[in-house]
Amino acid sequence: MTIIKPLLLAVLVTTALGAQARYNGEDRGRPVMPSEVNAKWQAECGSCHMAYPPGLLPAASWKKVMAGLDKHFGTDASLSAADAQEITRYLTKYPSNRWDSNAAPLRITDGEWFKAKHLKGEIAPEVWKRASVNSPGNCNACHTGAAKGDFNEHNISIPK
Ligand code: HEC
Ligand code: HEC
Repeated sequence: MTIIKPLLLAVLVTTALGAQARYNGEDRGRPVMPSEVNAKWQAECGSCHMAYPPGLLPAASWKKVMAGLDKHFGTDASLSAADAQEITRYLTKYPSNRWDSNAAPLRITDGEWFKAKHLKGEIAPEVWKRASVNSPGNCNACHTGAAKGDFNEHNISIPK
């Protein structure tokens, strides 16, 4: 038993890390961007930044984001109650299941997988300071197919 337990733990940890490292824009088998495209989500949530596909955050996160639109990252992104309800329904219908069940980050860029891929990897720190990139949340600056949920590493072009 004393030998098996640490072994089992090592296997579990390796599997978890492996799953994270292999992440390629698929949310454990589901696409990040569902085939259903909600027109209100696209128009309202795509006017200041790209409309982030539903599969990039867990449902609890989307609920929090949608409940706080009047104080949205220092700006007012308020909607009518009906529009907010429709968009919340859409976002929480196709959520990510990559976070553990009690995690509800407000930012995609707070995710450990995001940091591992972007902040500890091969992207030089000065890239993040370029006006063409501006913010880590500006996915489509580098991922040319981001708005369609395509984060494949072959479709990346770092802007100058
Ligand atoms: C009035 C402009 C505006 C509108 C409209 C807007 N946002 Fe944002 N959003 C922002 C700003 C500003 C940030 C912070 C950008 C930064 O720090 O890089 C942000 C950030 C976010 C982030 C975090 C991105 C990250 O860093 O991981 C999410 C998620 C998000 N918005 C979702 C939404 C959703 C959902 C809607 C539609 C209901 C929406 N936004 C509409 C301005 C807006
Ligand atoms: C400055 C450019 C840049 C920005 C902005 C950026 N990424 Fe990336 N992203 C990259 C690069 C480069 C890689 C490849 C890193 C590697 O493989 O080590 C990557 C990898 C990824 C991967 C893994 C792809 C794979 O096949 O393994 C995902 C998923 C991803 N990014 C999602 C996002 C999301 C979501 C956003 C916005 C919230 C974002 N990225 C913003 C440059 C960027």
